[in-house]
Amino acid sequence: MNAPPPPLRHFLDIKSHKRETLRAILTEARRGKARRAKEGRYDQKRPLAGKTLLIFFEEPSLRTRLSFDAAMREAGGEAVALQGGETHLGRGEEVSDMARIFSLYADLIALRATRHQTLLSLAEAARAPVINALTDAGHPCQLLADIMSFEEKRGAIEGRHLAWIGDANNMAASWLEAALVFGFHLRVASPNSEALPSSLAGRGREAGLLTLTKNPKEAALDADAVMTDCWSSLADDPKAAAAKKKALQSYRVDEALMALAKKDALFMHCLPAHRGEEVSASVIDGRQSVVWDEAENRLHIQKALLLWCAGVL
Ligand code: CP
Ligand code: NVA
Repeated sequence: MNAPPPPLRHFLDIKSHKRETLRAILTEARRGKARRAKEGRYDQKRPLAGKTLLIFFEEPSLRTRLSFDAAMREAGGEAVALQGGETHLGRGEEVSDMARIFSLYADLIALRATRHQTLLSLAEAARAPVINALTDAGHPCQLLADIMSFEEKRGAIEGRHLAWIGDANNMAASWLEAALVFGFHLRVASPNSEALPSSLAGRGREAGLLTLTKNPKEAALDADAVMTDCWSSLADDPKAAAAKKKALQSYRVDEALMALAKKDALFMHCLPAHRGEEVSASVIDGRQSVVWDEAENRLHIQKALLLWCAGVL
């Protein structure tokens, strides 16, 4: 009798993975970045030759879509991008049926979905590895790029203090997952921190890895990095977005707030940014900002992630 095939290597969140797996992806991303700088854009070994990535996005994107596309091509594979509105998704075709179709034509699937449940349904029915390219519950690819960027500048993230200022959204949830897996302290200053997954927040507090406050100054004090994100996310309806904008007025990251953090603290933001809302122009365009490194590292993380999902890493 043939042995059953190994389980698919989905990448749906941070919390389901061991630190060693995430560390292996980060290490490969760092190596790949160095290799690319030395040898050029295209990996001569073509580790993903003959493989196709389907990039299926229900929501807009700039960085994620382009970095997945570039990562796949640079690794010798091919990418096909499809927008939700171009399919029958809005006309009632079930995601599980779509997953079976995707699996016929593609070896890897990257999905950006408004609701996390769509991602879970797709992953359950797919016969190819599925990557979370952002849902309302998390943005794990971005998180790995952010950890890579932090560590390039400041060394290992374990044991550090990071401050999240603003909306307790999908990025904040992924940071919380990462704090638990890697073991760093996350201080969240938010008017809606109850939006974070309660079981994870409970575990974080018990482990002494999470502090929740409504005071941005308390969160930023002596932090190694100060992070924020836009005040409304793709999954928010206009009413929720307006309410958040009102509640978040005192959660702007500006120079006064950065001055409370460590002298060499980094400013991080996944982008797109809204200068004058969640962050002042002087901070995001200032010397402590690493937002362009974060965006650049999306490519290297995406490539390493694709290798891991394809079983090459
Ligand atoms: N940071 C990020 O995911 O950006 P996009 O929405 O442009 O992909
Ligand atoms: N929290 C934002 C991140 C965008 C990359 C959103 O979900 O829209």
